[in-house]
Amino acid sequence: MEGDYKFRINNLNVFWGKAQALRSISIDIPANRILGIIGPSGSGKTVFLRSLNRMNDLVPEISVEGRILLDGEDIYHPDVDPVKLRKRVGMVFALPVPLPASIYDNIVFSPSLFRIRDRKKLNHLVETSLTSAFLWDEVKDRLKTSALRLSGGQQQRLCLARVLAMEPEVILLDEPCSGLDPISTAAIEDALGILKKNFTIILVTNNTKQAARVADNTAFFLMSEMIEYGATEQIFTMPRDKRTNDYVTGRFG
Ligand SMILES: Nc1ncnc2c1ncn2[C@@H]1O[C@H](COP(=O)(O)OP(=O)(O)OP(=O)(O)O)[C@@H](O)[C@H]1O
Ligand SMILES: [Mg+2]
Repeated sequence: MEGDYKFRINNLNVFWGKAQALRSISIDIPANRILGIIGPSGSGKTVFLRSLNRMNDLVPEISVEGRILLDGEDIYHPDVDPVKLRKRVGMVFALPVPLPASIYDNIVFSPSLFRIRDRKKLNHLVETSLTSAFLWDEVKDRLKTSALRLSGGQQQRLCLARVLAMEPEVILLDEPCSGLDPISTAAIEDALGILKKNFTIILVTNNTKQAARVADNTAFFLMSEMIEYGATEQIFTMPRDKRTNDYVTGRFG
């Protein structure tokens, strides 16, 4: 059932010069679900995420082999415009980097919104994206103040709102809660649980408990390979591979 998968990835290999960062990754990623990606540092999680919106293209030493289909279309086909692709497949990074501008402008300054001149439409977009990122109530009375004055957790949700304002289809999150307190983390997790109705979400996390809490499916990466992929409950309660078991029970290393 092709339509149920947002991404179909077949035999993805990624190289940094001669070193291999990802080895024969094949995975079908269902639409409107949260895929959690777990694994130790250096296992290839970030390289994998960056392959999905061709951000690896920006690094000259990286080469990518294999096939990645988004809605059935090869994203590495020469006709695909990587800028348009990155609008469809938005990314939120571990360290939030708001623009040194107001909260409001951080959202409307997205290049894909430059066409919109209608102030009412922009106001609406700012409100809906901040609401979806669980930030609206905290900032609605100070939209014109600097985004740099927000707390770390608020800045992270602002960066999520900025991606949402571009109306992507897929949201990639690379350790979005590292360095956040439990309350901010819970706010992000709540937002993701609601957002998956409208988006496909891929969440890289160093926190296996977070994957267990929010992901529908989980993939375990180790040393450039995907060791196991399945329903989150299966991965955490009945892993097939001993290495997965060691990792999810914290006995790794
Ligand atoms: N700039 C770089 N130059 C060369 N190799 C790199 C570079 N960045 C990453 N790599 C290599 O690619 C592999 C995968 O790295 P990646 O960043 O995807 O790991 P990760 O699983 O995201 O780790 P972490 O949990 O620490 O973020 C590693 O072996 C790493 O050494
Ligand atoms: Mg990483």
